[in-house]
Amino acid sequence: MKTTIAQVPKYEGQTVTIGAWLANKRSSGKIAFLQLRDGTGFMQGVVVKNDVSEDDFGLAKNMTQETSMYITGTIVEDKRSPFGYEMQVKQIEVIHEAVDYPITPKEHGTEFLMDHRHLWLRSKRQHAVMKIRNEIIRATYQFFNQNGYVKIDPPILTGSSAEGTTELFHTKYFDEEAYLSQSGQLYLEAAAMAFGKVFSFGPTFRAEKSKTRRHLIEFWMIEPEMAFVDHDESLEIQEQYVSFVVQAVLANCQLELAVLERDTTKLKAIKAPFPRISYDDAIELLKKKGFTDIEWGEDFGAPHETAIAESFTKPVFITNYPKDIKAFYMKPDPNREDVVLCADLIAPEGYGEIIGGSQRIDDLALMEQRYKEHNLTGEAYQWYLELRKYGSVPHSGFGLGLERTVAWLSGVEHVRETIPFPRLLNRLYP
Ligand code: 4AD
Ligand code: MG
Repeated sequence: MKTTIAQVPKYEGQTVTIGAWLANKRSSGKIAFLQLRDGTGFMQGVVVKNDVSEDDFGLAKNMTQETSMYITGTIVEDKRSPFGYEMQVKQIEVIHEAVDYPITPKEHGTEFLMDHRHLWLRSKRQHAVMKIRNEIIRATYQFFNQNGYVKIDPPILTGSSAEGTTELFHTKYFDEEAYLSQSGQLYLEAAAMAFGKVFSFGPTFRAEKSKTRRHLIEFWMIEPEMAFVDHDESLEIQEQYVSFVVQAVLANCQLELAVLERDTTKLKAIKAPFPRISYDDAIELLKKKGFTDIEWGEDFGAPHETAIAESFTKPVFITNYPKDIKAFYMKPDPNREDVVLCADLIAPEGYGEIIGGSQRIDDLALMEQRYKEHNLTGEAYQWYLELRKYGSVPHSGFGLGLERTVAWLSGVEHVRETIPFPRLLNRLYP
């Protein structure tokens, strides 16, 4: 019976065959322990000299790391391993012998590992992080599907910019100038007027010169947009969504979280509602914490966000930022012209901003005024204005950065380990 490591618990006591690679190995005298991986999981194969042919025992003892094989044996319980099962090997058929695999079980430097990302992905830690990423994506689709959202795919090649023009990737579009999308938001607003509640999940691009542990050049965003939903209602959707995802990862990624030695007690507490603090109060809080340099009207940097997050055990919404440091489309607070109806959601434990969101301007005259202030004239933006011309309604939306969320839930330090092939300031390879 051919099966996979993930399916092994169904076959206790039975003999199965698995297509696998050798991740690691140790042997002594009459026994060899093969650490096997097959993509679905990791499992130990025990090769006892007297249970296999002489050839197969020789193979097992001398097998090199990342050699591929079909391996056959009996599945037995193994209480000592977190996986809970191992294989008592009966037969080995090598498919391909790997010679001099560069990533050995010893420590390697980050640049070396990043240069070998195509191979590094096979390691137990990287495998665990990608499985958590996959679970976040799965739970995202589940959450929005079961709440009546329609998945809408905004274009990646665009003629307009959502988040300001300084960080755009320019490209030729035949005779026109085009950009790679920074955010699907403007298109999702159009879609929300057609479908009510929509969400997108796709790659976004920012030519940011930031070399921090939270910035990628190419990253993936989940962007919901809702008609007839105001700022406060949007915050409730955000906290429900994030709680749902965290609890899904806790329920479905126990092995992965254990491999990563993630402290799950902190994640178990992530349940709606989340605390909210206004930008004004956040400034006061920072001053009390000794940040004497920050003034009202300035944006927060990573140290500020981390200091604010430290006062809370759950993610915290920082709401109502000054209008001058936020995007042109955000609706002013009806009680105060100088701040907008927006919020950033800051993850705990120093993982930074995972969501940016806002209520959008729905008044045509005000949007036209913002266009002038931001020099957003030209044909590329006319369609967006028309959304305010024909049955404009209050609407809100937000964008969750997938990689920062993966970093937080996995407990990994740097976003470069949260996407299969990271695009960084100094890296386009592999
Ligand atoms: O706050 P941002 O810029 O918001 C928007 O783009 C809105 N148009 C979204 C919307 O309302 N539909 O980006 C949203 C999130 C951030 O909170 C952060 O998690 C992530 O995207 N993000 C990045 N992640 C990795 N690398 C970068 N360079 C990122 N820039 C933003
Ligand atoms: Mg933001």
